[in-house]
Amino acid sequence: MKDALGSVQSLLVLGGTSDIALATARRLIADKTRRVVLAARPSERLDAAVADLRARGAEVETVAFDAAQVEEHEKTLGAVFAGGDIDVVLLAFGVLGDQAADEQDPVAAARVAQTNYVGAVAAGLVCAGALKKQGHGSLVVLSSVAGERARKANFIYGSTKAGLDAFAQGLGDSLHGSGVHVMVVRPGFVESKMTAGMEKAPFSTTPDAVADAIVTGLRKGSEIIWVPAALRYVLSGLRHLPRPLFRRVAQR
Ligand SMILES: NC(=O)c1ccc[n+]([C@@H]2O[C@H](COP(=O)([O-])OP(=O)(O)OC[C@H]3O[C@@H](n4cnc5c(N)ncnc54)[C@H](OP(=O)(O)O)[C@@H]3O)[C@@H](O)[C@H]2O)c1
Repeated sequence: MKDALGSVQSLLVLGGTSDIALATARRLIADKTRRVVLAARPSERLDAAVADLRARGAEVETVAFDAAQVEEHEKTLGAVFAGGDIDVVLLAFGVLGDQAADEQDPVAAARVAQTNYVGAVAAGLVCAGALKKQGHGSLVVLSSVAGERARKANFIYGSTKAGLDAFAQGLGDSLHGSGVHVMVVRPGFVESKMTAGMEKAPFSTTPDAVADAIVTGLRKGSEIIWVPAALRYVLSGLRHLPRPLFRRVAQR
């Protein structure tokens, strides 16, 4: 339960090694969050994240979680909620895939959708049900500007984010009045391990900047945030460009 000042006491991260999620966890811990649960695939990176967050004063637990294994979500995530209330769930897992290779390998392309969309639908519904049962909490969903209008260079990933974004908006509306809040986060290009080695795109941002925007959005009870905020206006223009013009503008 949030304290009297509205500070987040407990955080569950789905995709517990995400750079954006860990930057957000660090921000929240600096602002009084004490219980952090990292749901993630076991790895050295996860161990390092646990050590770092503990050193910042949080009680950190981990649960083995593979987003693509949807049959396991109810049991795995149900156990987390059974261990105590969760104020904020941050749905952060995702894979970019390799568009050119995946176009030639439909099974690999489907794996991107299985993680980013199918996994998020299952995990999102499990967490939404648990938050509703406890009567409060926020579900923060990492969507992307890539879902706003699919580009030829990255339409497999973009389409998974479009589906995820629509799912999260509908879920938020269905939970309106229940005490549970859903916030959709639409970052542009973020310099994280997901984009390591890639050429920066215009309006590039950082995990810390996304984390700041998430914390501010949580305080305000925002339903959709763009990071950086100016992307909202850029994408609103791009969304309405005629197809031939969009194909020329969105070369990469
Ligand atoms: N970076 C960007 O430019 C950008 C822009 C807009 C939106 N986003 C979205 O923001 C979210 C976080 O991305 P990020 O930038 O923080 O990148 P990141 O550091 O690569 O984080 C993505 C995380 O997803 C986890 N993951 C992938 N497949 C998984 C699975 N099957 N089960 C459990 N976890 C899985 C990875 O964990 P492992 O350690 O197990 O691989 C990784 O830690 C993603 O949803 C991404 O699509 C990113």
